Amino acid sequence: MGHFLNHLASKARKKLRLGHSLSELNVELMGKALHFRAPALTAELLAAIQRISPQFHLRGDESSRRFWELNQNGASWGEYVVLRPFLDRLAVPSRVLDIGPGLGRSAIFFKQLEGWGQGSFDLYEGSGKATKYTRAGPRFLDSFCGDLPALTALLEFNEIEEVEIFDAAELGGSLAGLPGPYDFIYSFFAVGFHWSIEHFLDEILGLMHDRSLGAFTLHDRFQDLSVLDPVPHRVVVADQSWPRGRSSRLLVLAKSDEILAG
Ligand SMILES: C[S@@+](CC[C@H](N)C(=O)[O-])C[C@H]1O[C@@H](n2cnc3c(N)ncnc32)[C@H](O)[C@@H]1O
Repeated sequence: MGHFLNHLASKARKKLRLGHSLSELNVELMGKALHFRAPALTAELLAAIQRISPQFHLRGDESSRRFWELNQNGASWGEYVVLRPFLDRLAVPSRVLDIGPGLGRSAIFFKQLEGWGQGSFDLYEGSGKATKYTRAGPRFLDSFCGDLPALTALLEFNEIEEVEIFDAAELGGSLAGLPGPYDFIYSFFAVGFHWSIEHFLDEILGLMHDRSLGAFTLHDRFQDLSVLDPVPHRVVVADQSWPRGRSSRLLVLAKSDEILAG
């Protein structure tokens, strides 16, 4: 009943564009240590968030700032909790690649874990003026809707150093020019979610070595996984931070089954 009332309140707020309530967040993830901090939501930052995450209806006040901060942080915890059993079997990932970081929540989160990204922590993103999200759709060149200056500002605000941003426009929209191999490659709510992983798989595998791990949020529309048959993989379920009660599937892949075996 409580969940249903929350849902109705959330729908009403959305209609009226009245911001969010913390009661929309997953309580457990909301209580976890804060790795991601949000600055004041300026008009520029709100515009970038709106383009990258149009599902939110934030305002420039403290209540929205706090909601966004806790959600970005909680989302990253939800993913980390389910990936941890796989990651724990490997050495701490020294070379990491984030494909489609948006405003950098996951990079900011992972960079604060002991030893992560000491070799390099690379972000592959492109600036864009319009949101052209599909659901597990085809790959196209102008799919980017990021904001590289805002991403840089968020990294600085969180005092994250030694990450390198690779502008997708300069790489012709290809991943092949990135300086792999990486120990851990991930793409949350980007490749695998808006754009089907099958269109990127060869380039991603080309950036992995024999003991690398990959993790990708899968859209629910991507049900026929047969294209992944030749690649060792598992699908795990992560709690989402928002809306509470929702979960998402994560594809975990490697070059050998031994890396994934529990
Ligand atoms: C929904 S956002 C996800 C942001 C972030 N990973 C997160 O989970 O909060 C999708 C991001 O993918 C980026 N993107 C668009 N086309 C892409 C592509 N071909 N390869 C990688 N990223 C892409 C967009 O610019 C956008 O920042």
